[in-house]
Amino acid sequence: MSRRKKRKIFERVEIVSAGGKGKGIGYAPDGRIIFVPFTAPGDVVDVETVKKRKQYYEGRAIKFHAYSDWRTEVLCPHYGICGGCQWQHIRYEKQLEVKANEVRQNLKRIAGVEPGNEKPVLASPKVTHYRNKMEYAFTDSRWLTKEEIETGRTFDRRGLGFHIPGHWDRIIDVEFCALQEEPGNEIRNAIRDFAKANNLSFYNPRAKEGLLRQLTIRILKSGEKMVLVHFGKDDEEHISLVMNFIKERFPDLTSLQYLINTKQNDSIYDLDIHLWSGREYITEIIDGLAFNIKAKSFFQTNSYQTENLYRKIAEYAAATPSSVIYDLYSGTGTIALFLARHAKFVLGIESVEQAVEDARINAKRNQIENVEFVLGDMKEVFTKELTDTYGSPDIIVMDPPRDGVHKNTLQTIIDIAPEKIVYVSCNSATQARDLVTLKNYYEIVLTQAVDMFPQTYHTENIAVLKRKK
Ligand SMILES: C[S@@+](CC[C@H](N)C(=O)[O-])C[C@H]1O[C@@H](n2cnc3c(N)ncnc32)[C@H](O)[C@@H]1O
Repeated sequence: MSRRKKRKIFERVEIVSAGGKGKGIGYAPDGRIIFVPFTAPGDVVDVETVKKRKQYYEGRAIKFHAYSDWRTEVLCPHYGICGGCQWQHIRYEKQLEVKANEVRQNLKRIAGVEPGNEKPVLASPKVTHYRNKMEYAFTDSRWLTKEEIETGRTFDRRGLGFHIPGHWDRIIDVEFCALQEEPGNEIRNAIRDFAKANNLSFYNPRAKEGLLRQLTIRILKSGEKMVLVHFGKDDEEHISLVMNFIKERFPDLTSLQYLINTKQNDSIYDLDIHLWSGREYITEIIDGLAFNIKAKSFFQTNSYQTENLYRKIAEYAAATPSSVIYDLYSGTGTIALFLARHAKFVLGIESVEQAVEDARINAKRNQIENVEFVLGDMKEVFTKELTDTYGSPDIIVMDPPRDGVHKNTLQTIIDIAPEKIVYVSCNSATQARDLVTLKNYYEIVLTQAVDMFPQTYHTENIAVLKRKK
């Protein structure tokens, strides 16, 4: 039997909640949960199953019988295919409700945290055009939409856009994206059109061949802009052609750079970056502090909300002029520098060398002298001996990657027993797991979800912990 024949159709499924990475949730006639992307609570839909598991189905809506009152106009012609956004069809205040609810559920279910001390979710000041960084992929075999295929026509398959989620080799061509300020769309489209007009080769993701591989565009709140072109081969003549075109067409770029990536993977951390024009960094201003950002540097992608997030961290840390603070997973040192203004001393710890270099440059640039940065893997360098060198912290602020905090690091925290911990996380499930351990020694005095990524299901969460007496 073909795969397609195994698919079932469930009629008139009512979507009752939202969750599961942004999908609507309903129940199949056999009682199993069914996840349906791009639906909202209150929709009534016919669903075709695409996956069956022991406990649940995944499906797609093929016909709508009723529409939810959570719905709003979508912003973008690619919505539903590109996968960068999951919630454009849902009003922003409802997006916030779902995000706060998901964090609440994770904290309750995994860590037994009651919502009594939960502060209202912090909305983003901008709900569109908030991303300071976009990454696009070139392709010589762009994914065609169902509508395009149904025309029976032949299409130019060269494109520049986003990967369809879960498919490394399927890339859709993007004409418009609502998540970054202009001239983001203008730059992307101009480069693609120039490359087509000049018959330059677009990357083939399967064969791993082609001149034009990827494009990174950064547009900051400060107005500074960086364009980084990733070439798939070392072809001086054509690289010059592209770079000169961009320089002439967009003369106000702060930084225009390129790299040559002939590797199998897209990671750029081990590659040389070549400056074509302007300077090698751009500068973002957050609450009066200036941060240099280089091509390889991590920086929070929503600068508008970063300011609010850091202010909340500072408020909850409540440092005094005698406080010693450790900023674990400090990245380019932004939180450490932000807090240093209120503390005696801040130590940042981070494993990426360039990030630590940036952090030190940023400290100098802002004339902040009461900070230091240590390079290394947290579970190895963050030890009792380190606190002997730099002083034991009264406050720990930590903002780990999605996987959360290593168990050795949690043990070190418990051993050195800071008075307060401000734990910032982009994954409330791993945060809740870590809170299970910390809860034996710390009281969770408040939590607050922060929306850094409107139109998507991602949520940041702050948990503030005080040592038990
Ligand atoms: C979510 S980012 C936070 C960055 C920074 N706090 C900010 O607001 O920009 C997490 C940081 O943890 C760093 N990191 C990941 N694993 C690490 C480890 N094992 N030891 C130290 N740092 C690590 C990453 O390089 C990244 O800079």
